[in-house]
Amino acid sequence: MENFIYSIGLGLGDPEMVTVKAVKILESSDMIIVPQSSKLGKSVARDIVLNYVGEEKLNMYYFPMNNDQEELDSTYQGLAVQVKQYCDEGKKVAFVTMGDPTIFSTSNYLCAELEKLNIKTKHIPGINTINTLSNLLGVPITVKGENFGVYEMPSDVDRTVELIKQHPTTIFMKVNKRVTVLQKAVRECQPKFAKLVEKAGLPGETIYDLTGADMPEEPVYLSSAMIKS
Ligand SMILES: C[S@@+](CC[C@H](N)C(=O)[O-])C[C@H]1O[C@@H](n2cnc3c(N)ncnc32)[C@H](O)[C@@H]1O
Repeated sequence: MENFIYSIGLGLGDPEMVTVKAVKILESSDMIIVPQSSKLGKSVARDIVLNYVGEEKLNMYYFPMNNDQEELDSTYQGLAVQVKQYCDEGKKVAFVTMGDPTIFSTSNYLCAELEKLNIKTKHIPGINTINTLSNLLGVPITVKGENFGVYEMPSDVDRTVELIKQHPTTIFMKVNKRVTVLQKAVRECQPKFAKLVEKAGLPGETIYDLTGADMPEEPVYLSSAMIKS
């Protein structure tokens, strides 16, 4: 029989936003691998999963939050080898990620390494940043005849202005360290609507107007922006 794992999207934090299908797979899995970026053991994904299964099923796996490609590659390769062992032992393994597993997710890199070891991935979609933001803010992502763009926050203002002008709606992710670039671009473009959301769906969820005076100097990592030009 072909070996495979499930890669499950958990939504952005509200445990009620996990799909029924995801819950059923979590319940029937023997082992759930949960990525953790804090050495202190904090993990939003873990908190969500614990609403549905016991701690004994969890296998926390540390992923460094840096751009050291060599370290990241060896982390993914190491985990893929471990996952293969679990699959060879006949275990049903699930890997969980925040939001959707196909959007800026560790899951994509892990699945590529698993593929090399002949382990397939079945993806279970999760409610992601894009639809969480649009629904929370109550504005459509797109309507008939329009389009939208989703980007990692660029490092320069000109590129940001160009992207905002290119689409009726633009979503920027990983905004935190580059929020001043976004604020400058917004001042230049004067869009109809420019909001930043911190911790959507989590305790402490806050919506800011990107032109407002109360904007934090550096929002938390879990921050995204929606601009309507
Ligand atoms: C590594 S990406 C993960 C994206 C996720 N896979 C998805 O489908 O939305 C992390 C970025 O997603 C966005 N994000 C994740 N959770 C968020 C939340 N609760 N509120 C706002 N933005 C969030 C932020 O832009 C953050 O920097």
